[in-house]
Amino acid sequence: MSSIKKSESGVPNIESTNILVTGGAGFIGSNFIRYVFEKTGFTGTLVNYDKLTYAGNLMNLVDIDGKFGNKNYFFERGDINDYGNVKRVFSKYDITLVVHFAAESHVDRSIFGPKEFIETNVNGTFTMLEASRQHWASRQDVRFHHISTDEVYGSLGESGYFFETTPYDPRSPYSASKAASDHLARAYFHTYGLPITVSNCSNNYGPYHFPEKLIPLVILNAVEGKPLPVYGDGKNVRDWLYVEDHCEAVWQILMKGRTGETYNIGGECEKQNIDVVNSICEILEQLHPLKDNKEIKNSKLKTQNYKELITFVGDRPGHDRRYAINCDKIKNELGWKRQHGFEDGLRRTIAWYLDNRAWVSNIRSGEYAKWIEKNYTSRA
Ligand code: NAD
Ligand code: TYD
Repeated sequence: MSSIKKSESGVPNIESTNILVTGGAGFIGSNFIRYVFEKTGFTGTLVNYDKLTYAGNLMNLVDIDGKFGNKNYFFERGDINDYGNVKRVFSKYDITLVVHFAAESHVDRSIFGPKEFIETNVNGTFTMLEASRQHWASRQDVRFHHISTDEVYGSLGESGYFFETTPYDPRSPYSASKAASDHLARAYFHTYGLPITVSNCSNNYGPYHFPEKLIPLVILNAVEGKPLPVYGDGKNVRDWLYVEDHCEAVWQILMKGRTGETYNIGGECEKQNIDVVNSICEILEQLHPLKDNKEIKNSKLKTQNYKELITFVGDRPGHDRRYAINCDKIKNELGWKRQHGFEDGLRRTIAWYLDNRAWVSNIRSGEYAKWIEKNYTSRA
């Protein structure tokens, strides 16, 4: 059980309120829902509103659905751009708190096809804010928490940190769309008095991460003896945070955050990409030694060491060089601090992927899509 104190944020009894989580079937959203039910003593109603894009996977929440489904946990399939449906869900569950995760989240995809990023991240956030404003009118005992990223601040050189006051300087279609949505959330606070909070978090990693992102992609490719693609010189720096620590930070903001405020969340854990990939190879050698890896042994590969699979490839256009978060504000004001170091978090993550190969093959094989069709279409 969490040691978090009772709500001081202006939303009475968060532990028993009616929460709408958008994008709850994705990586961080599903971890957040699990965190709420397993770590906070939550007894209210939580509605997961998700369109189930390629990145949304209800298998992430089978355990939660089994334990809490149709009692405290409800799933509603829908698009955040569908104003009528969002309003229906607000009314049906008498929503008093929104945690807005839903987004298109992958930088590489935003380079190939930016349109969906504008539609979901900008227009979709606008729709969520507008529905909240219409439903809540001028109520102040409610809260809209907008989840964002440190990528809105742009790219750092060798030194310096992102603070909450750092001017925005987004450089990819993804970060530009997130920046726009952050500005909209703050504009709704200043213009209409909508009680919002915003958090900008660094790179997350952990269970249920869709295997297009660096860490899960490298874990799975290594296990399967495939090349481990490292963009450019591999020296771009990201600040890594174990996903459960992000979830706890968000919960603390809901409990104690001040409306109109932005909180940076970070791992204080800067790593060059090549070091991350090397660490994965080293931990994998301990947890799943190459000599016992049947997938590689049964192939024609002569690999003696996972690191031999590392392959430098062409760089991502506009690749931000370095991200590093200063998160003193949330530490000092709300008392949050991360619980997991990188070695510990990475080991847990690798172990999870090794133990959950069925999850991986399902989302890759299309079985997942069929499963959704069979189990959830009628409930949508
Ligand atoms: P994800 O891609 O794993 O999940 C996104 C979820 O949103 C999916 O379940 C998807 O089905 C849903 N979704 C997408 N478009 C939708 C729409 N139009 N209507 C309803 N649902 C829709 O993303 P994630 O990595 O879990 O990121 C969640 C949030 O956290 C995003 O807002 C992202 O910008 C932010 N964030 C992510 C990271 C990170 O490292 N992953 C770091 C900081 C902030
Ligand atoms: P990613 O996981 O896509 O997150 P983000 O772009 O939001 O930071 O990428 C993390 C870092 O890893 C980023 O610097 C790009 C790099 N990268 C690779 O080197 N190879 C890959 O195959 C991927 C997906 C990312």
